[in-house]
Amino acid sequence: MNKSLLFIAAASMCIVFPACHSGAQKNDAAPSENTAPAAEAPAAAAPSESAPEAEAPKAEEAPAAEAAQNAPNDEKAAVPSAETEVLVAYFSYSGNTRYVAEYIQKKTNADIFEIKAKVPYPAEYDACVAQAKQELEGNAFPEIESTTDVGKYKTIYIGFPNWWGSLPRPVMTFLKPLDLSDKSIRPFLTHGSGGVQQTEADLKAAVKAAEFKPILSIRDKDVKSEETQKAIDAWIAD
Ligand SMILES: Cc1cc2nc3c(=O)[nH]c(=O)nc-3n(C[C@H](O)[C@H](O)[C@H](O)COP(=O)(O)O)c2cc1C
Repeated sequence: MNKSLLFIAAASMCIVFPACHSGAQKNDAAPSENTAPAAEAPAAAAPSESAPEAEAPKAEEAPAAEAAQNAPNDEKAAVPSAETEVLVAYFSYSGNTRYVAEYIQKKTNADIFEIKAKVPYPAEYDACVAQAKQELEGNAFPEIESTTDVGKYKTIYIGFPNWWGSLPRPVMTFLKPLDLSDKSIRPFLTHGSGGVQQTEADLKAAVKAAEFKPILSIRDKDVKSEETQKAIDAWIAD
């Protein structure tokens, strides 16, 4: 058989068995499970590994300051309604607690109120950390931008980040004048590696309420996870 006959024979084999074509190679590998886009990382501020007096929270994972202003959920928080007896009040510097607060608000159809310092905390993380330490040590009550009338609410979810093992002082400013003696308080917290530390105890010492539900504690890097959402759902239902 001369060369041209051999070529024609080979070409016709490829028509019959398409696997000869490079573009028709069968890929036996299973489809990747990682095709879904990765979940957006939470704006995580750095944790404190130890007691607040001992070591400052680390800045490596500190969020960009702008992240503090970004609402984590697409939907806007509900307009305060005349009917609800539930309020979600929260403070957030870098967005984690806001994310959880808005999730709880949607699940409970509550009103929502953000506690904001009148003078915003420094965008620069280390400066914020230093200021927070000074305020805690000085038992300060930094002015807040505004407050809200809690009279009509029976249940108040109160959320904050762990700051130096305790609550950010603007939360104390918010709570101080309130009469919560007929309210059920449901505290929730986001934190670095320190966990709850003194936050729950400090809150209970500062506030006289009819009832305290156990604090819900969420690690900053986990605020958006499915497991966290399930844990929040169960905690709300409890
Ligand atoms: C001023 C400051 C102090 C902090 N101190 C602690 C701490 O003592 N223990 C801890 O576990 N995390 C600490 N963190 C980390 C935050 O609690 C955590 O990242 C939280 O989720 C931030 O919430 P936010 O995004 O709502 O502000 C601190 C963060 C800041 C900015």
